[in-house]
Amino acid sequence: MTRKPRRNIGLIGFMGTGKSTIGKALAESTGMKFFDTDSLVEKLAVKTITQIFREDGEDSFRRLESIVIEKVCKNESAVISFGGGSVLSPLNVEMMKSRSIIILLRASVKTVLMRTASNNLRPLLVVDADNIENRIASLIEDRRTAYENAMDFAIDTDHLEINDAVETIRKRLDI
Ligand code: S3P
Repeated sequence: MTRKPRRNIGLIGFMGTGKSTIGKALAESTGMKFFDTDSLVEKLAVKTITQIFREDGEDSFRRLESIVIEKVCKNESAVISFGGGSVLSPLNVEMMKSRSIIILLRASVKTVLMRTASNNLRPLLVVDADNIENRIASLIEDRRTAYENAMDFAIDTDHLEINDAVETIRKRLDI
């Protein structure tokens, strides 16, 4: 039987590390609710992330993201996938950590490249094909400290199947 924790389980990490996929599977397997801050931002703005970045700019996206984080963090027993840049605001991190255990999902530049290459849904990765690897590497590096300061523990997802990642988290949290 599953013992659902009252605290939320928050997934953070760079784009393409598996937050949404693993988050959904974890919620399904434990019977917890699932939220994805990117989807909530799109619902709030009634626009896609790409449109928000293009029409209103990144600052506007970050404002909406913070509004959504404040609200979604009030849940209990939920799995929450936080957008890759959510940890850039200390206030966001404070809200995220207040009621959630925070798991950092990590992946190599090559894995991120592979997982994000098939679509251009991520405005921050829309650069010339020649520059994409450098772009990913430098963003990951810039954010490393923010990710590590926000996490309770980390999981490398490069060689993990979705179900293995779910089991690793469940074992680690004893749920
Ligand atoms: C972003 C990550 C995206 C999305 C937006 C900005 C970032 O979310 O919030 O494109 O700054 O890393 P995912 O990490 O869910 O792709």
